[in-house]
Amino acid sequence: MSSRAAFFVVSAFAESAASLAQATPTSQAYARTRLGRSALPIDRQGHPCRLLDSPPVSRIQIDGATKRFGAVTAVDEVTLDVSHGDFLVLLGPSGCGKSTLLRMIAGLAPPTSGRISLDGRDITHTPPRDRDLAMVFQSYALYPHLTVARNIGFPLRARGRAKSAIAGKVAEVAAVLGLDELLDRRPRELSGGQRQRVALGRALVRDPGAFLMDEPLSNLDAKLRTATRAELTDLHRALGSTFVYVTHDQVEAMTMATRIALVNRGRLEQVGTPEQVYDEPASVFVAGFLGSPPMNLVDATLVARDGELHVQAPDVAVPLGIAGDLPARDVVLGIRPEHLKPGGSLVRGVVRVVENLGSEEVAHLLVGDARVCLRGPRPLGLAAGDAVGLTCAPEHVHLFDRTSGRRLVRQPSPVSPAVV
Ligand SMILES: Nc1ncnc2c1ncn2[C@@H]1O[C@H](COP(=O)(O)OP(=O)(O)OP(=O)(O)O)[C@@H](O)[C@H]1O
Ligand SMILES: [Mg+2]
Repeated sequence: MSSRAAFFVVSAFAESAASLAQATPTSQAYARTRLGRSALPIDRQGHPCRLLDSPPVSRIQIDGATKRFGAVTAVDEVTLDVSHGDFLVLLGPSGCGKSTLLRMIAGLAPPTSGRISLDGRDITHTPPRDRDLAMVFQSYALYPHLTVARNIGFPLRARGRAKSAIAGKVAEVAAVLGLDELLDRRPRELSGGQRQRVALGRALVRDPGAFLMDEPLSNLDAKLRTATRAELTDLHRALGSTFVYVTHDQVEAMTMATRIALVNRGRLEQVGTPEQVYDEPASVFVAGFLGSPPMNLVDATLVARDGELHVQAPDVAVPLGIAGDLPARDVVLGIRPEHLKPGGSLVRGVVRVVENLGSEEVAHLLVGDARVCLRGPRPLGLAAGDAVGLTCAPEHVHLFDRTSGRRLVRQPSPVSPAVV
C-alpha cells in the first residue's frame, strides 16, 4: 500500500464549521478610492482617510437564530459572525430566508429562538431605533412630498438635531453621493438611480454602526446596476463600515462582497470569500448556484482501477491522478464550464447549441443523459451536431457525496486509504 495513498472524506459538520469561521480581511486593507464625484480627504501622511465623522464600525454576531412563521421555518439555526468592516452578502434563491434574516438583525422580525449581538451587546430584543443600524430597502421608501435635502436629513430631524448641524451633515453626505445639485428636487423628479442614492444618503447621514441593505439595486436597469455596484464598493471602502447586503444576484455578490453567506432553505450552506465559495464550493447547492453557466454536475461513480482513483459516468472517464483503493461509491462530479477544453476523450458528448457571448462562446452538450456546458474564448470551433471529446485538468475536478450533497475533500493519508 502506497504511503502516498489518498482518500476522500465527506465534509460534514466539521467542514462547514471551518468554512464559517473563515478569517475576513479588515477594512484597513482596502485601498481608499474615489467615490462618485468626491475625492476622499487625505491625512497628513498623505493617506486617504475616512469619509464623514468616522462612523463606528460594528460587529454583528448571530447565534443559532431561528424564525418561524407558523409551519414555515424561514431562518433555521443560523450562526454567523459579521466582522468589523465586512461587506457580507447574503445570497440565495427567492424565498430562502435572506430578508427575514436581515430583518431579524434590524429588529423588524424578532427571532423565534437564538441570539443577536452588536459589538458584544445582546440586542435580540432591542427595538430597531436603539440598534444603531441603518436599513436601505429595495423600494427606497422615500417621502414623496419632501425634497432630497429633507429626505436625507429626516433621521436627524427625528432625533431633534440642530438645524445648522443637519444642513452641514446633509451637504456632506450629498457631496459624497453626488447629489449636491439635486437637493431641492422631489423624489418624482429623480431617476431610479438617484432615488436609490437618496435612500443611501438617508442611511449614511446617521453614521450608523452598520448598513443593512435588502436588494437595493433591483429596481435599476442593468447598466445603472453595474455602475451603482462599483459606487457601493467604493462607498464601503471609503467608510470602512460594516455592510450586510441581501441579493439573489450572484454577480452582485461576487463583485462587491468581502464575504458571501450562501443561504438555502433558511440554512447557511457556506460562508467564505468570493474566491473560496467559487473555487471550493462546500456543497452541490453552492456549486450549482454560482457561475454563469453554473458548474456542470453529473451523477457519477468514484472507483479505484489499477491502484488509481477514477470518476466514471456514461461517456465520462476522468482519472484523478491519485493513488488509492476504495470500494465504488456514488458521487456527483462537478466541473466548471471554463475548465472543460475541447480535445482528449475524458468527456465525450454531442453539441446541441453554441451561444455567442461576444468575447466568449458557450457550447451546450449532451454527455450520456447529462447536459454539460463548455465556456471559452470565441471561436470555440464547435457547431451543433458535432461529436466532441473534452478534457479537464484533475485539479479542476470537484466531487460531492451523492446523498448529503457535501463536498468530498482530498486528504493525503500516510496510514491507509479509506473512506470515512
Ligand atoms: N410575514 C410572514 N408570514 C409568513 N411567512 C413569511 C413571512 N415573511 C416571510 N415568510 C416566508 O418565509 C420564507 C422566507 O422569506 P424571505 O422573504 O425571507 O425570503 P427571501 O430570501 O428574502 O426571498 P426573495 O428573494 O424572494 O425576497 C418564505 O417562504 C416566505 O414565504
Ligand atoms: Mg427578500
